Amino acid sequence: MTAFLSIRDLSIRFGGLQALDRFSMDVERGAIHALIGPNGAGKSTVFNCISGFCSRFDGEILFDGAPLEARPHRLVHAGLARTFQHVDLLRQLTVLENVLVGMTSRVRRYCAFTPGFGRAAAERDAIAQADEVLERTGLARYRNLLAGELDFGHQKLVDLARAVAARPRLLLLDEPAAGLRNREISEVVELLGDLARGQGMTIVLVEHVMQLVMSVADRITVLSFGQKIAEGEPHEVRSNPSVIEAYLGREHHA
Ligand SMILES: Nc1ncnc2c1ncn2[C@@H]1O[C@H](COP(=O)(O)OP(=O)(O)OP(=O)(O)O)[C@@H](O)[C@H]1O
Ligand SMILES: [Mg+2]
Repeated sequence: MTAFLSIRDLSIRFGGLQALDRFSMDVERGAIHALIGPNGAGKSTVFNCISGFCSRFDGEILFDGAPLEARPHRLVHAGLARTFQHVDLLRQLTVLENVLVGMTSRVRRYCAFTPGFGRAAAERDAIAQADEVLERTGLARYRNLLAGELDFGHQKLVDLARAVAARPRLLLLDEPAAGLRNREISEVVELLGDLARGQGMTIVLVEHVMQLVMSVADRITVLSFGQKIAEGEPHEVRSNPSVIEAYLGREHHA
């Protein structure tokens, strides 16, 4: 079976730094696939290459069997949505408005292709859907606050809600649990499980919070210094000596 997302021999240099070195990874349709590794391993760079934020790289990225040529402003159109490690919300807009931004291209397409469905109806529909996503991400009570007023963890949740509301086929999450408390992490675990298992969404998850990774991931790929050092099911990766060494080695250096 061909993978839903296939990354083949991805390499990229930044000046003298080989950030990714022939990195390959296959993600199955409907899976939650975690990408982990020490700081600076190249995880966010993989996301940047997939989503068109890196202009020059070697290798190939296939999405649903075809070469992926995503551009940052055309992600939703391509069936992709991503969140950012360092959140980049519209701080002067409300939480609800930020989530709606993730949906605008879908609303427009809906108006264009559904006869008799006017803009006002489409907007009402979009707001109802955004509210549903806010409910599921535990953000309903922050709906009308300015995004810039929330703490980091809640801004990350808004970013997650924005990406989920775009209803992508492939969702790329860069450290969604950073800044969250245990109870909120459990809610994210539940949400991601529901998106993948219930709605068939495919999720690639970059995360340092192992509680989240180990409880939701079907499969884990481990990066270190731009190279894949391990891959497998959570129980296999957890006990892999190279993985333990990669994490501990870095801590000793620090
Ligand atoms: N645009 C860029 N220009 C120069 N160097 C970059 C750029 N993007 C990333 N790097 C470097 O590439 C390496 C990999 O960075 P990346 O952000 O992908 O790591 P990461 O695995 O996401 O780390 P972390 O867990 O800390 O987020 C780092 O050494 C980083 O400094
Ligand atoms: Mg990163």
